[in-house]
Amino acid sequence: MMIKSTISVFLLAVLVSVGAMAQNARIKIDLDRKIGEIDEKLYGNFVEHLGRCVYGGIYEENSPLSDERGFRKDVLEAVKDLNVTITRYPGGNFVSNYNWKDGIGPKDERPPRMELAWARLETNRFGTNEFMEYAREMGTEPYFSVNMGTGTILEAQQWVEYCNVKEGPYYAELRKKHGYPEPWNITYWSLGNEMDGFWQMGHLNADDYAKKAREAAKLMKLTSPQIKLIAAGSSNYRPNADPNEWNAKILHELRDVVDYLALHMYVGNPSDNYYNYLSTPMVLEERTRVVKGLIDREMENADRGDRDPIYIAWDEYNSWYRARDAETMAGTRALEEHYNLEDALVIAGFLNAFIRNADIVKMANMAQLVNVIAPIFTNEEGLFLQTIYYPLQLFAQNAHGTSLDLFVDCETYATDEFFVGLGESTTKQDAVPFLDVSASVHNGEIIINVVNRHKDKAITTDIISQSGNFDGAIEVLEVNGPTVKAKNDFDKVEVKAVQKESLKAKGSVLTYNFPAHSFTQLRAKIK
Ligand code: AHR
Repeated sequence: MMIKSTISVFLLAVLVSVGAMAQNARIKIDLDRKIGEIDEKLYGNFVEHLGRCVYGGIYEENSPLSDERGFRKDVLEAVKDLNVTITRYPGGNFVSNYNWKDGIGPKDERPPRMELAWARLETNRFGTNEFMEYAREMGTEPYFSVNMGTGTILEAQQWVEYCNVKEGPYYAELRKKHGYPEPWNITYWSLGNEMDGFWQMGHLNADDYAKKAREAAKLMKLTSPQIKLIAAGSSNYRPNADPNEWNAKILHELRDVVDYLALHMYVGNPSDNYYNYLSTPMVLEERTRVVKGLIDREMENADRGDRDPIYIAWDEYNSWYRARDAETMAGTRALEEHYNLEDALVIAGFLNAFIRNADIVKMANMAQLVNVIAPIFTNEEGLFLQTIYYPLQLFAQNAHGTSLDLFVDCETYATDEFFVGLGESTTKQDAVPFLDVSASVHNGEIIINVVNRHKDKAITTDIISQSGNFDGAIEVLEVNGPTVKAKNDFDKVEVKAVQKESLKAKGSVLTYNFPAHSFTQLRAKIK
């Protein structure tokens, strides 16, 4: 009797301790569960005439680091490694009071102007043709934004004529006279920037914007029928704004005309709440789903011939919260954020969100390329790569093909502030998974992107293939650093992408311990 009860107590203790042992997290991969094709334009970027993005960034005349055209050679090299597929230009808020005609012709004859968006003198020594030459060097698709603020629909039409018409009319001939006999044939054009924002020069209400954008689109398309147009969707999420009403209205009015709706989002960590900050890409995903619903509704009655449906272009996204007061948002040193590891993890989260929504998000542009809230930071003697450079580089170089719909099972956490952004503060007790995951398959190779949001704990995870056994060595790339506040600088590299020892799976299961506060990219094959 005594022995029997001792055994049952022992068995109970074993069961309790097995139950208490944390189960491995699980990621299941099934090659038949596809979300959509990953558009290469997800790896876009943005060059605005703002602070030192152009002048002192990509372009520095008379610098020993520049070529004869003034292009910084060291910057160009770092840019090329980012595989920037499409680059938006020239703004941003800047474009809403920009006259493109100021930036063409002999440089010494171009008029200097007051730049009102970011309080600078704009010399106009860099303009359309300089940007296009730079874009050719970068190997990027150009994406121009026209001035729908203080600009007219005629100016927009004339810019398209200057860029895309081979010969004949005045502005095509002017381009030839400026030394460019062949048209640039720019496909992507956005109809203004953040026109829903009260801060925008020439800000319009939704009705007036839709009317102006539709007429601009008409003239631009008559000039160059193959162009694709991007409408300005929501950027204003402050109290009193109604971003979805704006999006619904613009989609309804422009559904036959435009090809993309542009959305913007910046996040930050002003209250130093790591876990909350790491959850912010979930807000982007939530907004994406809402806009997808609005698009679906409009596509039912749209008259688009054989054109694709409207897609989402997240054509500005990043972390931006330190350089946000009157002083740091003006002049030649505006918006110079110095990023740390937690910012890099948020960027990896954004990229995961784009991949998971690859069926509807067909363009994304990190804002911006150099110095201004940027992955590359220069001074007159050189540059360093910010922490956010590395996740972008790994995604842009490796995550292509078809996005996969994964099953992910892991522990979650709650945040008291779900999101604190620009004037926006939403309190929600939402469950945030510690593992943020996306995957894609391309030419038989599977890329798995995992952010471990846990600040202190590695998470042991079984990655289970539902489509056969893992085949051969599995490559591991990791972005991490000593603490979540670790930063890079001109004289130190604390955060970078590191190739780890490759792995071997057991049949269809690969078990991996994702380190605390890390982004890991695995490259595997299944047979
Ligand atoms: O990227 C910086 C600024 O952020 C852009 O000029 C504007 O469009 C947005 O508000």
